[in-house]
Amino acid sequence: MITLDAITKGYQRGSSEVAALRGISIKIKKGDFVAVAGPSGSGKTTMMNIIGLLDRPSSGRLMIEGVPMDDLSRRERTRFRREHLGFIFQSFNLISVLSVFENVELPLIIARSPLSSSQRRKKVSEVIRRVGLDGREDHKPAELSGGQQQRVAIARALVTVPTLVIADEPTANLDSATGERILSLMKEINRNNGTTFLFSTHDPVIRDMADHVILLHDGNVEREILGSER
Ligand SMILES: Nc1ncnc2c1ncn2[C@@H]1O[C@H](COP(=O)(O)OP(=O)(O)OP(=O)(O)O)[C@@H](O)[C@H]1O
Ligand SMILES: [Mg+2]
Repeated sequence: MITLDAITKGYQRGSSEVAALRGISIKIKKGDFVAVAGPSGSGKTTMMNIIGLLDRPSSGRLMIEGVPMDDLSRRERTRFRREHLGFIFQSFNLISVLSVFENVELPLIIARSPLSSSQRRKKVSEVIRRVGLDGREDHKPAELSGGQQQRVAIARALVTVPTLVIADEPTANLDSATGERILSLMKEINRNNGTTFLFSTHDPVIRDMADHVILLHDGNVEREILGSER
């Protein structure tokens, strides 16, 4: 369970402060498939960056799996992020000089995974197969389509078996059919592995693929829609 309790975030801009989040209180259950929607500037990225421990709130409390994140040191936050969270970005953020295989393997190397190198290679191959890219292991990102690059990014996010995957507009740079296929893949992984997904989107079709929608407006939760209410 992820709990946000009265989270606010203000950004200093010159002498004035911009309120990006004005008191967000939400709960995200383990295994949930959650969309964050709302107009540009409503606070989607800010909220996801706070949950992803990439940014700190100005006030309020964030708990992940019963652990109060505010109490952690910088080093503990980094460690928590590495061990429990996976990220998928809008622009894929793949490393262009590395192959598909090496891009997916990288988080395991950074996390100093206890796997032996043959176990690690097996794990990487398995995740690459999972996202439908077997046979492409030796390709560089530039040799792949946008949808295929986003599959690599999904594989890279999943290889460490995170509790939560955070994806800020993962389909923004894809055509709508490819975007829907990427979402279906995320949903399938969510169902099969019980991995919690939190993604933001501007696309109503993509949003409606979620089981739980958090609608933001001007830094507040305007409405929450749960699957059972549909
Ligand atoms: N680093 C920053 N410095 C100052 N203001 C910021 C910063 N990041 C975001 N903001 C402001 O905070 C508010 C929320 O921005 P945020 O990026 O969270 O919106 P968003 O919902 O993700 O928008 P979009 O749909 O365009 O991605 C906006 O008013 C934005 O201008
Ligand atoms: Mg954003």
